[in-house]
Amino acid sequence: NPLEKARYLGSAHTPAQLPPDGGFEVAFAGRSNAGKSSALNALTRQNALARVSKTPGRTQQLVYFEVAPERYLVDLPGYGYAKVPMDLKAHWERFLDNWFRTREALRGLVVVMDIRHPLKDYDRQMIDYAVARGLPAHALLTKADKLGRGQQAQAVAAVRRELAAAGAGGVGVQAFSSENKQGVDEARAVVNGWLEL
Ligand code: GTP
Ligand code: MG
Repeated sequence: NPLEKARYLGSAHTPAQLPPDGGFEVAFAGRSNAGKSSALNALTRQNALARVSKTPGRTQQLVYFEVAPERYLVDLPGYGYAKVPMDLKAHWERFLDNWFRTREALRGLVVVMDIRHPLKDYDRQMIDYAVARGLPAHALLTKADKLGRGQQAQAVAAVRRELAAAGAGGVGVQAFSSENKQGVDEARAVVNGWLEL
């Protein structure tokens, strides 16, 4: 799979640190501790690509991984966590907001949510942004290994229903587990499609 070629490219905390806005990028967003970095590692089949942390909310950077020339995966910092000084936080939010709204290379958004706690405020906000921009989005309901199959199916159906009611019915929704790799092939197909790999 092409995603297995991913390698760390660099991290951006300011616009000047970003790669040129000319390629194809897929962003991974989600609350702190939802399992974004673990999902990236599962999709790329690299256990130590994105750092997996039990201490949430530390990085305030866009972390770029290069899959192929001008094809990137971007690990966004977990939202819903505010262990940083206010001025830094304001700078960061402005940067992220701008990037998300104007980045032309951005081809798709993966929203990573704990299957037991999906669609919190910030998740909805990210999905709304994506819909408003006409950006395709895909929801990974991760940590599915924590639920039985029946409960998983219920959670997926509930999220689909809520998104449809919110005018985001085009957003894909699937169960996922970085732990046992459930749903990895399905998610890879979505990401590869967006990156035109
Ligand atoms: P931040 O970078 O802090 O925003 O967190 P993150 O969203 O990148 O989460 P991360 O991948 O670091 O995972 C957080 C915790 O959840 C870790 O302890 C992981 O081992 C655990 N975890 C992640 N995915 C899964 C999963 O699919 N199943 C289970 N059981 N645990 C998971
Ligand atoms: Mg992370």
